[in-house]
Amino acid sequence: MIITVASFKGGVGKTTTAIHLAAFLQGQGRTLLVDADPNRSALGWASRGELPFEVMDEWAAGQKVDARVNVVIDTQARPIAEDLSALAATCDLLVLPTTPDILALDALVLTIEYLKAIRSPHYRILITSIPPKPSKAGEEVKALLQEANLPVFEQGIRRFAAFQKAALQGLPVYSVKDPRAEAGWQDYENVGQEILDIMAARAFDAPSQGMSDRGDFF
Ligand SMILES: Nc1ncnc2c1ncn2[C@@H]1O[C@H](COP(=O)(O)OP(=O)(O)O)[C@@H](O)[C@H]1O
Ligand SMILES: [Mg+2]
Repeated sequence: MIITVASFKGGVGKTTTAIHLAAFLQGQGRTLLVDADPNRSALGWASRGELPFEVMDEWAAGQKVDARVNVVIDTQARPIAEDLSALAATCDLLVLPTTPDILALDALVLTIEYLKAIRSPHYRILITSIPPKPSKAGEEVKALLQEANLPVFEQGIRRFAAFQKAALQGLPVYSVKDPRAEAGWQDYENVGQEILDIMAARAFDAPSQGMSDRGDFF
């Protein structure tokens, strides 16, 4: 299975999402994280500590990937919807992390128009860095996206300092000493489970159109 993590904008939690989805998938089977962002943030994360899966750049990945492994690809921000449509065509699922604030602003209508222009059913929006109550930003943005008939993960990712500690220490969030570390990991576990459910439902609906052809990808 190939999962690509992308967005229109930087700083929305792509790398944090790629790391934790790879950690989840590693629990299912061998998983590689491909750092295709020239900033190499995921490789930096790996170099500071220890992760339960291999992280490599896109050049090294070509030799390592075969049909048995799960691949999570972290990318740089993409400015336009056409690029995201092209990315969606080369993976099994495109995950688009989005913080509730950018959508809450004037950019909301424009963002929704961009998202509607993605000509692929194989993507899903993940709301990240959701502020704690009494803020309702997370729920409000989810409702707006759903009203616009855009695909959104049921589970969002809450804003916890534990995620910043994880990045600094080079660890998955569950290995960080922090009272909210477990809650942060649970959010990503639930998203990982949604991804497995999506793949299972798709395999059931269209058994002949299995996973994407890895041979063409790298
Ligand atoms: N759920 C979260 N809670 C708190 N901070 C977060 C969360 N997700 C990401 N961050 C922080 O936000 C910043 C940007 O996240 P990052 O994953 O690097 O985004 P991107 O790859 O899209 O640039 C980092 O400092 C990261 O630690
Ligand atoms: Mg990044």
